[in-house]
Amino acid sequence: MSKKPINVGLVGGGKGAFIVNPHQKAIHFDGTRRVTAGALFPDPKIALEEAANWPYPIKGYGSYTEMIEANASLPEDQKLSYIVIVTPNHVHFDPAMKAIKAGIPVFCEKPLCLNLKEANALVKAVRQHKIPFGVAHTYLGHWTSRFARYIIRAGLLGEVRWVDSYYLQGWLATKLEATGQMQATWRTNPKLAGGSGCGGDIGTHALMQLRYVTGLDVTQVSAQLETFVEGRMLDDHFTIYCKLSNGGKALVRASQICIGHKNDLGIEISGTKGTLVWRQEEPESITIHLANQPDRIYWRGAVTPGDGFLPKDVPADLMAEPTIPPGHPEAFHDAYARLHRCFEADVRKWQAGEIFACDGSKYASVEDGWMGIAFIESCVKSSAKKGAWTALPKKI
Ligand SMILES: NC(=O)c1ccc[n+]([C@@H]2O[C@H](COP(=O)([O-])OP(=O)(O)OC[C@H]3O[C@@H](n4cnc5c(N)ncnc54)[C@H](O)[C@@H]3O)[C@@H](O)[C@H]2O)c1
Repeated sequence: MSKKPINVGLVGGGKGAFIVNPHQKAIHFDGTRRVTAGALFPDPKIALEEAANWPYPIKGYGSYTEMIEANASLPEDQKLSYIVIVTPNHVHFDPAMKAIKAGIPVFCEKPLCLNLKEANALVKAVRQHKIPFGVAHTYLGHWTSRFARYIIRAGLLGEVRWVDSYYLQGWLATKLEATGQMQATWRTNPKLAGGSGCGGDIGTHALMQLRYVTGLDVTQVSAQLETFVEGRMLDDHFTIYCKLSNGGKALVRASQICIGHKNDLGIEISGTKGTLVWRQEEPESITIHLANQPDRIYWRGAVTPGDGFLPKDVPADLMAEPTIPPGHPEAFHDAYARLHRCFEADVRKWQAGEIFACDGSKYASVEDGWMGIAFIESCVKSSAKKGAWTALPKKI
């Protein structure tokens, strides 16, 4: 812990908020980052009260605009090195854009924003200002996601033919939003969540997992967005048949009405030589099926290069597992920590005037966020046309 910690500011997170909690733990995970400020609530008075009650001292601001504008005139050691946006989807674009323009790197929750118009503007601004920007697709931070990415991209399972990428939940099987439950209320409102409820919230994770691990893009979709709970304004079941950029096919599916499924994100990738299976509810291992061979299970941090399946030159960063040794299970918070650790590395390089990556290899980039929004908009269009094949817009 010899590095001087960098300062992080929170946008959102007060009054019973959900995802701020894993983020703030992940920020403090390595002792090289710390939360020092927050604009935690839309009402300025409550925002300040919430900051005063934060479990450790942080500087409270009445609004994110105030926090971002104040940054330039703070003493060097109090300046924010990045902000984390943990507000509902309709409050992603404005703080992100304001921070980019003020020269503050942004780590933004998914989905990137509400629509393609906002996404286009964010990509352009990030490129123009040459500033680190990450999107918090949590599950890319599992060691096993990175290992799976290596296996597929190195061609160890041959050419990808078929992918089933899914995220199933059951928590919205009833009209929870009618009770005023905070997280359900905004997620089922198109003005606050965007054009798709289930697809935007968790279908984007399934898409990102597919793209990250395979390196393939979805080029066309045939989509069914369905609403099973009566009176709900957005889809709660999202089934998308996809054409992939290599000619393969995929199913990207998500549901919030599958009772019993909790956070059942998983991916199965079938190539010409074998199949890879991974589930985030058991995120410490992946299974490899090869024709006419016993199944192989690889555990985080316990692989042997040159074992008859893996080559001798497995990349050094996969072999040098920097967190707890295998067998002490890692999970959701560790994945978030790995994302923040990698984002911090890019922020420090940027601060030192060095070349930084933000290339989507360690955490989702602004372009990945754009692709999530482009996918959702194409799915909404296709579904409105009874599942007609619909091309995704050209990459920005
Ligand atoms: N990556 C993941 O695995 C994951 C998981 C859950 C949520 N999310 C994403 O995180 C975001 C937040 O989701 P959540 O479930 O934590 O929501 P939440 O409703 O629990 O919390 C949102 C917070 O934002 C605050 N807020 C709203 N408007 C604000 C404003 N103008 N200024 C300051 N604060 C404001 C709210 O008061 C609340 O504190 C969403 O975009 C969601 O999609 C991602």
